[in-house]
Formats: sequence, C-alpha cells, structure tokens
Amino acid sequence: MSSLSKQFYVTTPIYYVNAEPHIGHAYSTIVADVLNRFYVLLGSETFFLTGTDEHGDKIVTAAEKNGQTPKEYVDRISNLFRVLWPKLNITNNYFIRTTDENHKEAVRLILKKVKDNGDIYFSEYEGLYCFGCERFFTERELVDGKCPDHGTAPEIIKEANYFFKMSKYQGWLIDYIKENPDFIRPERYRNEVLSFLKEPLEDLCISRPKSRLKWGITLPFDENFVTYVWFDALINYVSGIEYPEGVQFKKFWPAAQHIIAKDILKPHGIYWPCMLKSAGIEPYQHLNVHGYWNVNEGKMSKSIGNVIRPLELVDIYGLDAFRYFLLRDMVFGLDSEFSEEALVVRINADLANDLGNLVSRSLTMVLKYYNGELPEPGPSNIEDNALKAGALELVDRYEGFMKELGFHKALMAVWEVIGKVNKYIDTMAPWVLAKSDKERLGTVIYHIAETLKIVSALVWPFMPESAEKIQDQLGLGKKGREFNLDDLRVWGKERPVRAMTKAPALFPRIETNKKKPPERKKEKKVSEKEPTVVSFEEFQKLDLRIGTVKTAEAISGSKKLIKLIVDIGEERTVVAGLVGHYDEQDLVGKQVVLVANLKPVKLMGVESHGMVLAAEDESGVHILMPDVVTMPGSKVR
Ligand code: ME8
Repeated sequence: MSSLSKQFYVTTPIYYVNAEPHIGHAYSTIVADVLNRFYVLLGSETFFLTGTDEHGDKIVTAAEKNGQTPKEYVDRISNLFRVLWPKLNITNNYFIRTTDENHKEAVRLILKKVKDNGDIYFSEYEGLYCFGCERFFTERELVDGKCPDHGTAPEIIKEANYFFKMSKYQGWLIDYIKENPDFIRPERYRNEVLSFLKEPLEDLCISRPKSRLKWGITLPFDENFVTYVWFDALINYVSGIEYPEGVQFKKFWPAAQHIIAKDILKPHGIYWPCMLKSAGIEPYQHLNVHGYWNVNEGKMSKSIGNVIRPLELVDIYGLDAFRYFLLRDMVFGLDSEFSEEALVVRINADLANDLGNLVSRSLTMVLKYYNGELPEPGPSNIEDNALKAGALELVDRYEGFMKELGFHKALMAVWEVIGKVNKYIDTMAPWVLAKSDKERLGTVIYHIAETLKIVSALVWPFMPESAEKIQDQLGLGKKGREFNLDDLRVWGKERPVRAMTKAPALFPRIETNKKKPPERKKEKKVSEKEPTVVSFEEFQKLDLRIGTVKTAEAISGSKKLIKLIVDIGEERTVVAGLVGHYDEQDLVGKQVVLVANLKPVKLMGVESHGMVLAAEDESGVHILMPDVVTMPGSKVR
C-alpha cells in the first residue's frame, strides 16, 4: 500500500446552533471519528476538529424565539453538541466555536490579507436573498422561483456591501480540480463542482451592514460591517489549529480532509479554495462529500420536524450498534433512508448472529479445551491456510477501502471473513476433534483466535467499545488504538499476555414486538417443489441497487455471457447470461436492478461483482428496469 503523509487532519462541518443535534450531524461526526481512528491504526499523527457555527441572522432569530440573548442562546446549544460527542465516543482533539476570540482574530487576519491582495471591493448590490441559507441566489439556482432547500421565495434586498473577487480564481480552481482528481470526492461531487464552474463565477458578498446584523465579526477595515457567514465559518478549519503561527497549523495544514454533506458543497468546493488561494494558504487535501439521511423519503431537517435524535437510539440499541449501522447502511456519497427496522435487522443479523456468536463460541472453546490459554498450532492444512490467507488479505483490502471512504465495503470485507471463520468452525467441528485429534484441535483453535484478533482490530474504528471488549477477552496485551495495521500483517505477532476470558453477549438480540404465530406441526413432508420461505430479515440482507449500464461486451469463448460495466454510484463489473436475448450495444445506457452484495464469482475468467435481475418466459429473458430513469445507486426495496 502506498505510504501517505504521516499527518492526518479531519474536520466536520461546524454545526449551526439554531437547533439540537440529529443523526445527520451524528453521521458526519462519526465518519470523521472512524477515519481518525483508522489513521491512528495506520500510525499517523492525527488531529480531529469539530465545533459550532454561531453567528448570523438565523441564530439571532432562534435566540429571540427562546427569549434569550444571542450569547446565552449559543452557549446553551453549543454545549448540547459538545456534551453529545463524548457520548458517541467521538475523539475530537478540539471543539471550536466561531464566537471564540482566537477564531475571530484569525478571521480578521485573513480578511486583511485578502484585502491587501486587492481581492475585496465595496459595491452596491441588489439580489434575491434566502434568509434560511443566508445567501443571495441567482435566478438560475431557484426552483419555481423558490429556494431549493427551504421552499420559500427569496426576498429582494438592496444594499452596499463588501465583495470577494472570487471570479479572479475561477480559472485557477478549474485547473486545480482537474489536476487533482481526488481533491473533491466521490467523483459525482467533483463533477458537480466542475459543472458549476462552467458558468461564470460571481463575486461573493462577504459582509452585512451592522444596521441589519450585529451578531458577527467586525471587519478589520470597516467597523460598520460584520463578515458574512461563510467567510466567518470556513475559516474555522484553520483557526481551530491555531492559524497562522501555531504548532498544530504548521504540522497539520494542508493535510486536511473535510467531511461534509452535499448541502454545503458549493461553499466548500468553490468559496473555500478561492479564499485560501487569495490568503496565500495551500488548498486542503480532500473534500469528502456524503449524501443525506432521509426519513420517510424526505431529507431530515430541523425545519421539517422529522428529526431523529441520536441519543434516543443509543439508549435503546447501544452505541456501537448505532455507529455500525450508520456506516454500514450508507454508501458514502449516496443518500440513505433511515429506518429503525433496518437498524434492528443489522443488529440481529450482523452483530448478534455473525460477530457476537463468533466471539462467544470461540471463547467458549478456548476456555473449555485449553483453560483460556492459546494453544500451539501444529502443521496446518489447506483449510487453515485458506482462513489465514483470507484474514491477511483482509487487512490490505480494508486499508484500500477505508482510504477511499468505502466504509460499507470495508465492513462487508470484514464480515466476509467473519462468515468464513464461522463456516470454518462448522466444518472443522472442534468438538469432534476434542475427542479424536488434539493436535488438529490446537491448530484449529489457534487459527480461529488469530483471525478474531485481526477482526477485532479492524472493527475498532467503527465499534471501539466492542472491539476493546473482544481484545480484552482474547487476553491481548494491546487494545484499540495501540494496534497498528502492520502488526496485523504478521500472523501470530501479537500474542495474548494473559488467559482468555468470557464476558456476556456483546450484542444481545433485539426482540421485535411482532408476535410470531406459534409454530404449527408440519403435517406433510415439505416437497422439494414448494418454494422456500424466507423471512423478511433474510430478504433485507439483499442489497438491491439501480445501475446504469456503461459498457457491454460478449465474453469471447462463451455462448451466453456478456460482461457489463454498471454504474451504481461506483463502477461494477458484472457478468450476465444475456447473449441471444439482447445485443450488446442495446444494453448500453439501460438501467438495471443489481444484486450488489453477492459474493464475487469468476465466470469464464471474469470476476462478476453482482447479478442483474431478469425475468424469463417463453419469449426469452427480459431485464427488470425502473419505469423512469432513477439515480444510479438508489436502493430497491
Ligand atoms: O451547514 N443527512 O451547518 P448545519 C446527513 N454551519 N447529514 C446531515 C443531514 C442529513 N439529513 N443534515 C445535516 C451548516 N447533516 C454550516 C456549516 S462549515 C464551515 C459550516 C450534516 O448545522 C451534514 O454534515 O446545517 C451537513 O453538511 C451538516 O450537517 C450541515 O449542518
């Protein structure tokens, strides 16, 4: 794997304090935490910043509604965020508030630099202003004359203000994004920014007269004005690490990776790099953009009132299950629908059944057969070697996925190995070996424990508490952040330093309220023809996605198979038996339903990562497709 710089700096958006935290905020912050912990495992020196955005019209209005002064109000809500994060096991190094004195100083300093550089001018402006977004809109950006985010008509506002000459940096920014393909990722958001940049960039209004808004940072060159919200907020990413002279700034900038959702892509993908360029600061390393958590098909938001509170879920289901679910169910970059049912399915299937059971049955055996001591392995056979190879390969695959923000893929890869160990236990049947072959028993138990150690270290960024509990039960001398991915690449390196122990179930099953009808005695033998009954839980395990076929070519030497490249938000190679039913060129551009979480299989030398759904009747094979063009990657339910 390529070696990255040893410094890693991750940020979340600084959240507005006009309402309480919800799972959207929790998701961004947990993603940042997972990445931060992953870079700890890589041996990087890390810094993690989050905080609150406390100036602007919206805050003043919210404070008034609550009968408080802006200061009293921001102190109270900011504190709700600050105390929430430790409860979600968030390991931020600093919590920045835009009302902090050192932040204000940094904002004034950057404003001065940008002004000295000739990039700030004063001018009269009349435009369409959305108070919800706190920014002017162009006609083109409105949908039916309304703000696309708030659904309200903007107001015409005319006033004299200061402007940042953003247009001057348009050419530079386009070149920079083209030369650094992973500056903004995933690619769809890079493309979105490049497409914004096809139109001439307007200069950015960066001030408000104090006659209209007092709750802001006074401009260093005109005390009748305060800064406009983005020029204040974005600067937190450098003020939070003590720009300009602080040790942290010197160490961690420009190794910054910003995490945001797509709602604030434009300020981060366009305003911020231009501001940095003008102030003579290097651009950040990556802008990582995720989609929305939706509830009942709509974006969850404070204004709509369909807010899901993280702590309520944590209280019911446990913190690690909550963290796991958010990272496993959302494909980073795409939207996801939140449902408590899906959370329960994940807990029961992936956590209680797969991982929890594995830990429990493995430790039971080490305790029963070896009094908690790790046995010495004897000669290994083909199955032992396959398990070991899979576990070692997992470390590399996981690292690759994590660096590309493929959190769900990293977890799927870990769960593949968990499945393999469970199967290995079933086939090796240690309980039989205990009676017949002590040497084989020792080898098998050794391979199970060793693989489990790797699994525990890799799930730690996602589920720190549970991972450490597993490591504790395995009697290991290292815990959580003390592991390094390289340790795991050496089979047998970190041995237990004390006897293994067994603790209560890590993830108790969640009993759903739905009462199952009592099982009736089967009256007749089930004939082979009768369809197998699958539970809703089993069905939910299938990850069905809409994809668009990008290319199609017949596989040479095969009478049936066509190789497709399908876009499901990421590109998948899929082999489908469609020769004779479709011409390859007719398939390109068609949308399909893809089973996206099938174990890859090799067909005629091509590895297939999914299956296209089709129906068959006497007239042939017919691909299933959505009745209107649907965003690639959308879930099918
Ligand atoms: O925009 N799904 O603050 P904000 C996923 N202060 N993530 C969501 C979400 C959802 N439904 N809703 C919110 C601001 N988020 C500014 C940012 S940064 C210099 C200033 C998350 O409180 C997501 O990270 O409206 C989104 O970008 C952010 O909260 C917006 O938070």
